Amino acid sequence: MEQEYYILGISASPRRGGNTEVLMDKIMQGAKSEGAIVEIINLRSLRIKQCIGCECCRTARICRAHRDDMQLLYSKIKAAKGLVLGSPTHNYNVSAKMKIFIDRLYPFYYFDPENRRYRYSLLPPGKKALIYSVCEQPNRENLGVVLEAMRLPLQALGYQVIDEFAAPGFFEKAAVLKDEQLLNNAYEAGARLARSLLT
Ligand SMILES: Cc1cc2nc3c(=O)[nH]c(=O)nc-3n(C[C@H](O)[C@H](O)[C@H](O)COP(=O)(O)O)c2cc1C
Repeated sequence: MEQEYYILGISASPRRGGNTEVLMDKIMQGAKSEGAIVEIINLRSLRIKQCIGCECCRTARICRAHRDDMQLLYSKIKAAKGLVLGSPTHNYNVSAKMKIFIDRLYPFYYFDPENRRYRYSLLPPGKKALIYSVCEQPNRENLGVVLEAMRLPLQALGYQVIDEFAAPGFFEKAAVLKDEQLLNNAYEAGARLARSLLT
């Protein structure tokens, strides 16, 4: 059952208390200020195995290959009308944990058996998302493809990615705490996502 005002945040840094997690907290504080029910999942504390490409989920519509913590997330993802994905930039891309998480969303696709080029999302319509990434180098190009690596799969699954932002130039653990403007922007982005779920 979809919950109109439930926002799920997926944070994908292996570093506890790092920049990605600080920003996720801010985003969710903003969402909560608008009355949203929020939940943050730190992928680093879950046991999620990588997709083995068995393709069984195309017919089973669930992943039968792994009985791991991803099974807990499937129902949360279905229920949440809002989704926030946050990843540190690792080698111009998402972190390994985020990539594994995204690959394991495969059971949410329906592939037409007559024409496999046609696929559509099995998720309820109307979902909205916010994505962001943090990186060490000061220039946006050092983010590489990290935002695309989250945006494109979410769009393929029917999400409207209503907002995205990058935070270049942060290396030390929780260094983003020194940037009040960035923290405010993160808070506002969370509040905007929450408000957008009501329209
Ligand atoms: C394995 C690894 C790869 C990284 N690759 C990049 C990169 O390609 N570009 C960049 O600017 N920073 C890179 N960084 C730095 C992190 O993006 C940066 O320190 C970020 O603030 C970490 O976020 P966190 O505190 O949430 O883990 C890398 C860090 C690690 C550990």
